[in-house]
Amino acid sequence: MKNIGQYRWDEIPISLKDKIVKAPLEEWGHLPMIVNTEWSTPNFSIIATSDDNDLICFLNLVERTAKFDGVDTEVVGINNLITARKYRGKGFGRTVMDKAQGFIFDKNKIGLLLCGDDVSTFYESLGWVKFSGSLFYNQGAKPVKWHQNTYLFSKESLANDSIDLCGLPW
Ligand SMILES: CC(C)(COP(=O)(O)OP(=O)(O)OC[C@H]1O[C@@H](n2cnc3c(N)ncnc32)[C@H](O)[C@@H]1OP(=O)(O)O)[C@@H](O)C(=O)NCCC(=O)NCCS
Repeated sequence: MKNIGQYRWDEIPISLKDKIVKAPLEEWGHLPMIVNTEWSTPNFSIIATSDDNDLICFLNLVERTAKFDGVDTEVVGINNLITARKYRGKGFGRTVMDKAQGFIFDKNKIGLLLCGDDVSTFYESLGWVKFSGSLFYNQGAKPVKWHQNTYLFSKESLANDSIDLCGLPW
C-alpha cells in the first residue's frame, strides 16, 4: 500500500524532509550548474511513501507571479520530481505528476517546469507543451537565461516570446 500526500514545505515531517533535500544532490550533485545555482525554496511538496514510511517519489511546488511577455501571470513551478531508484518504472512519477497537475488546475494557474532533454518525452506524454521562447530567472542581482527546456501546462493557449520568473529558479 502506498500513501500520497501534499505537504506545506515547512510542515514536512523531518525524517522525510531530510531525504527530500538530499535526493536532488544524489541525483544531480555532480553537475556544476546544479550545485552552483541558488534555487527557490518550495511552498509545497507532493510525496508518495510506503506504509513503512520509505520515500518513493516526490516533487516540489513553487508558487510565483512571473511575467509572460511582461504581463503578471500566476504560475506553479514544479521541481525535483524524483522517484527513488528501486521504485522507478512503476507509475509513481506519473501518479505524483497527476496530483501536481490537479493542484495547478484547481488554482487556475499555469504549470511551469525546467528540464533536460532526457525527460522531455515523459512530460509531453502528460500533456506538457514545450515553450519555444526565452526564459529568464534571477541569480544574485543578475537575470540569467535558461538554456535547456521549459515546459508549460495550461488550459489556455500560450503563445509567448519571453518568460521572466521574477526570482530564483526551481
Ligand atoms: C523521471 C522519473 C521521475 C520518472 O519516474 P517513474 O516513477 O519511473 O515514472 P513512471 O513509472 O510513472 O513512468 C511514466 C512513464 O514515463 C516513462 N518514463 C519514465 N522515465 C522516463 C524518462 N527519463 N524519459 C522518458 N520517459 C520516461 C515511463 O516509461 C512510463 O511510460 P509508460 O506510462 O508509457 O509506461 C524518474 O525516472 C526519475 O526519478 N529520474 C531521475 C530524476 C529526474 O530526471 N527527474 C526529472 C526532473 S526534471
